[in-house]
Amino acid sequence: MKKLLSNLFLLLFATSVSASSKDLFITIGTDAVNDSQKSLKSAVNLAGSEEISVVKINSDDVEELSKLMHDKFNRCGGFIVHDSLEEAVEVLNANDNRAFAKNMAFVDYSINQEDIVTNFLKDVDEFEIRSTILKLSSFHNRYYKAQTGVDSQAWLKQKWESLSNGRSDISVDYYKHDRWPQPSVVMTVEGTDKSDEIVVIGGHADSIAGFWGRERARAPGADDNASGIATITEVIRVFVKNGYKPSRTIKFMAYAAEEVGLLGSNEIAKQHKRENKEVVGVLQLDMTNHKGTKDLDIVFMSDYTNARQNEFLGKLIDKYVQVPWGYSKCGYGCSDHASWHNQGFAASIPFESTMNDINGHIHTARDTIEAEGSQGTADHAEKFARLALAFLAELGK
Ligand code: BES
Ligand code: ZN
Repeated sequence: MKKLLSNLFLLLFATSVSASSKDLFITIGTDAVNDSQKSLKSAVNLAGSEEISVVKINSDDVEELSKLMHDKFNRCGGFIVHDSLEEAVEVLNANDNRAFAKNMAFVDYSINQEDIVTNFLKDVDEFEIRSTILKLSSFHNRYYKAQTGVDSQAWLKQKWESLSNGRSDISVDYYKHDRWPQPSVVMTVEGTDKSDEIVVIGGHADSIAGFWGRERARAPGADDNASGIATITEVIRVFVKNGYKPSRTIKFMAYAAEEVGLLGSNEIAKQHKRENKEVVGVLQLDMTNHKGTKDLDIVFMSDYTNARQNEFLGKLIDKYVQVPWGYSKCGYGCSDHASWHNQGFAASIPFESTMNDINGHIHTARDTIEAEGSQGTADHAEKFARLALAFLAELGK
């Protein structure tokens, strides 16, 4: 009740102080609120918990804030833009309550598909992943407003179609967005038995570099996030090659416009929620090919994710991938898993390094497969393909 009242007050307050149509509502790490307010005239702190705050800013200040987050907090954005104050507050409350989807407690996380997974793992091919990373990096950029960002999605759609050729239970579609040209790409594999239950394996397809003139900037985005899309593409190639038919419906997603505030995944996750879709689990692959941490190969972000599903993924690594893994924290909704998490679905993001060892080349023209940490191969990403295939077989059953 107290929360309800305070939200009501907040709504009234914000409506009265924000007449301009150019106001934006963002959620941002509470630790960054003070500095944002110092640097931006427009920033008004509306509400917050220990971890996340809702701040109103003017849309003209978005780039300035991106720059501040980058320079001062080493975050390449570090905030999520919402359509409305209501949505921003919902995100705040969702994260405060930790009251998530009603079905979640009943998800079966058993591990017993050894024969299928073993066959999958024999087929994983580093060179396939490498080729897809190189192809995606060859687009000048994959920016959500650039023609090359539309073209790269057309290439990916055709690639996924060619991989699924001949399977009538598989379809590949654009998910079009009204507010920008780049579409998301979605492959649906219709479940044989429990087709109402959905498992999502996704990553963002867009890339970004620079602060001004981003439409024209060179942004290969090899690690961020050609690596995740190439990992997903290899998962698709391997499961189709094995003639695998999942019991649950599987959706592979290449989201548009992540780099500018999780825009594509936010629309998609909200649609699933609105239509009462039963999304059992979401795996996010964003940055899989930079080996940054010496003694850990796979690192789960513990915030904006589901702890039980993270544990399940850890067990899958122990059984099927056999590499050292651990936990780290983004400190904010750093990728598309947060869009799903904020709608109450169980999401996880197995990441390439801890936050202390981040690939320093992301969001620049130097994010290529040749960079340190990848050395021109997809050796690191291959481990994530193995994990995602195990996840597909064990949660898709
Ligand atoms: N791939 C990054 C997320 C990331 C970067 C996670 C470094 C962990 C370490 C993603 O594409 C990204 O850049 N996200 C933005 C936030 C987003 C809401 C615009 C970021 O991290 O600043
Ligand atoms: Zn990024």
